[in-house]
Amino acid sequence: MLRWIEIPQFKDGYDTFKTQSKHTFDDSFYILQKQGNGLKMLREEFKWHLLKWIGGKRILRRTIAPLIPEDIKTYIEPFGGAAWVLFYYKKWASCEIYNDLDGRLANLFRCVKYHPVELAREMTYMLASREQFLNAIKYPGETDIQKAARFLFVISRSFGAKGEQFAIQTKQSLSSMSGIIERIENISKRLDRVTIENKNAFDLIPLYDRPDSFFYLDPVYTKGAGYETSSTAQFDHIGLAEILKGIKGRFLLSYDDSPKVKDLYKNFNIIPISRANGIKGGNHKEKQYKELLISNYEIKQVHGPTLWDLRQ
Ligand SMILES: C[S@@+](CC[C@H](N)C(=O)[O-])C[C@H]1O[C@@H](n2cnc3c(N)ncnc32)[C@H](O)[C@@H]1O
Repeated sequence: MLRWIEIPQFKDGYDTFKTQSKHTFDDSFYILQKQGNGLKMLREEFKWHLLKWIGGKRILRRTIAPLIPEDIKTYIEPFGGAAWVLFYYKKWASCEIYNDLDGRLANLFRCVKYHPVELAREMTYMLASREQFLNAIKYPGETDIQKAARFLFVISRSFGAKGEQFAIQTKQSLSSMSGIIERIENISKRLDRVTIENKNAFDLIPLYDRPDSFFYLDPVYTKGAGYETSSTAQFDHIGLAEILKGIKGRFLLSYDDSPKVKDLYKNFNIIPISRANGIKGGNHKEKQYKELLISNYEIKQVHGPTLWDLRQ
């Protein structure tokens, strides 16, 4: 994906251009690399997402993205969830794989990919109504499109994206339903060449493991929320570490900062990071939540947020 682009401020030559940097124009940002007399576009921002998800990497994706190597042929997310990292750029690699063991997510992304018009039509009459919300929980649908629409509706309209309680709004305006329909159209295009899998990650990782494969893994944490597919207690943290120790490809793993995780991955690069957890504490300062990024390749520097990173 080599594309040459003209940037107004570099019209007189690219001499002042750093080897690699972030640029914005047309209201999008790009990662560009100097090459010969021109610039190679390495990455292009993708501005859409479909849904919020428990443990979703909405905030951390901006820290994670620069740590992902460029020379990869296959990009794989074995614990895909809402795919916030996958959807950060228009393309990570020529081959991209989304996976989640939760069949509701895999069905949703498949319907978005293959039936965007039908799915959007199914969602047209879904109102921000408590009655419809409770009804959609009680009757999750018969066809795949109905199931996808009701699942997306329930997650989008629920408190904390948990799919349980109807979220009332008192401070912010109601999230837009027509916005969701617009997102479906854009994400359908983004998924055009993405393989959607619905496997146990423990089976998927060996299947896609090659020397030029890259795995971004965001498993169930050792503390905190569990999932429909596996609770925190059930999840085989030791088994995951065993698989990752033997893989041929590269991986970047996000986890909670716990002694257990540090011990399991003591022979890898471990980078502690912290982020605001979004829940305001008693003194109204945002509480910091500590996490770890773990890789089997060298990471030189964790970039602090730039001007572009701070955009929402
Ligand atoms: C922390 S979330 C991933 C969030 C995602 N990175 C995002 O940005 O939205 C973990 C996901 O792993 C899935 N999961 C749990 N156990 C799994 C397994 N054994 N194989 C594959 N997926 C699994 C859950 O269904 C959940 O969606």
